[in-house]
Amino acid sequence: MKVALGCDHGGIVLKESVVNTLKSFGAEIVDFGTVSTESVNYPVFALNVAKAVASGDCEYGVLLCGTGIGMSIAANKVKGIRAAVVSDLFSAKATKEHNNANIITMGGRIISPEYAKLILTEFFEAKFQGGRHQNRINLISEIEDEYFK
Ligand code: RB5
Repeated sequence: MKVALGCDHGGIVLKESVVNTLKSFGAEIVDFGTVSTESVNYPVFALNVAKAVASGDCEYGVLLCGTGIGMSIAANKVKGIRAAVVSDLFSAKATKEHNNANIITMGGRIISPEYAKLILTEFFEAKFQGGRHQNRINLISEIEDEYFK
């Protein structure tokens, strides 16, 4: 499994934990930065990770910012991306099972590095359930077809 990883200065507090967790799953990580606590613009990192996932080069993406919210808003502007902000274990599982999320975003000012590990474990162990959930994702794709150029 190839996973694209991106963060800003607000999310970097989670990065080491996320890298170690992904490696423990045997994932190959494509690191798009950032690498320090210097202030940067989260949409730049969201776009690079979203492009890697939308193109199929990476199967999943993980994005980290202060809240996870800005990263998800930006990543969801790329066609084919289903980025979910996750701060609890139920949502971590549900967004894979129901939404087939291909990017998970988390906030370094919201959750701890230890909790990020638990969230990623729930997310990557869960399986998309298909069926009625696929029908709903197809409806999302129809919205994309109509509104994305
Ligand atoms: C950066 O200060 C902060 O705005 C960013 O990390 C993120 O929380 C945006 O949603």
